[in-house]
Amino acid sequence: MSLMASSLPSCVAFCATSRPHLGRSGRRAISSVVAMASAAQQVRTRKPFAPPREVHRPVTHSLPPQKREIFESLDAWAADNVLVLLKPVESSWQPQDYLPDASESFHDEVAELRARAREIPDDYWVCLVGDMVTEEALPTYQTMLNTLDGGVRDETGASPTSWAVWTRAWAAEENRHGDLMNKYLFLTGRVDMRQVEKTIHYLIASGMDPKTETNPYQGFIYTSFQERATAISHGNTARHAKRLGDANLARICGTIAADEKRHEAAYARIVHKLFQVDPDYTVRAFADMMRKKVAMPAHLMYDGADDRLFARFSAVAQRLGVYTARDYADILEFLVRRWGVADLTGLSGEGRRAQEFVCSLGPRFRKLEERAAHQANKNKDPPEFAPFSWIYGRQVQLF
Ligand SMILES: [Fe+2]
Ligand SMILES: [Fe+2]
Repeated sequence: MSLMASSLPSCVAFCATSRPHLGRSGRRAISSVVAMASAAQQVRTRKPFAPPREVHRPVTHSLPPQKREIFESLDAWAADNVLVLLKPVESSWQPQDYLPDASESFHDEVAELRARAREIPDDYWVCLVGDMVTEEALPTYQTMLNTLDGGVRDETGASPTSWAVWTRAWAAEENRHGDLMNKYLFLTGRVDMRQVEKTIHYLIASGMDPKTETNPYQGFIYTSFQERATAISHGNTARHAKRLGDANLARICGTIAADEKRHEAAYARIVHKLFQVDPDYTVRAFADMMRKKVAMPAHLMYDGADDRLFARFSAVAQRLGVYTARDYADILEFLVRRWGVADLTGLSGEGRRAQEFVCSLGPRFRKLEERAAHQANKNKDPPEFAPFSWIYGRQVQLF
């Protein structure tokens, strides 16, 4: 069990550590009272603008001095290979394209949207709100990119380097995601927008702890992983919306997922280039990121009441198949293939060990996940529910 908790992404570690308590009702009741008391204590002692939990060891500036010029030397390459993946503003979609038109038909269109939204169950709203809150913390992600060393960060706020141009244009494209989802959710009337807005407020104030050490190699490995993760998540909410009969919502989620795929392609292309020009250091950076685990960008999520909000949101996403432990393993294996990690040659001893580690990780995750699923099946625990402030405190099944 300790291996699972330390080796798997947060959603699996959460499932693996919480679930075994459920079969024994006495212990379960005691442990939940203790957990509630400690959560209440934490809430009382929380500083209003600080992260809700202690963040990871603050390693920074781990990029060796001899590598500081590498991104500058790749500036022209980035212009030809990365910036081309941006969409011109004039041909880009905007949130208004998917929302009721503020004309005479506005009220009818809103009524239609709300009628469709009435058919959608609470667990779906929890997933969609969690995804929207994640998107709305965009200032944090642009800040994260601008912590990166090696000539990547936007030094002036309007720097003309390809890296800075990319970061600003990427943020501008991303900005539409939270904007569209926020406006859509408001119009449905199905979620407690004040609670959702409070969650966004807390999250941006808390920041994030991506453990990328202000190192651009680790930073771009992290963003490659995360863009793929968000593409999967939005793709799955699109699929569910379609199944639930809401083609408009499916289009919204699908459009956002397509953007994430394009962003993933850009970041994965950057890391692929790093594998070509500096394979040894890049594979070690990849192994390092995977050892630390890729934290979800909204892992410090908090709504002012529930200290386990992120774990609970993750549990619902896992149960609905919106974003699962299997997806984490799939992304890792995809990136190992995409970057040709197994075929790297001429590595140092440390580089070879890093290569073996990342190549063995996918099968290891799968084995652990199968064992966890088997155990959960055997235990046949009763379902566990939790209230979510985002939907007026209504209970949603976690497991
Ligand atoms: Fe996004
Ligand atoms: Fe994204």
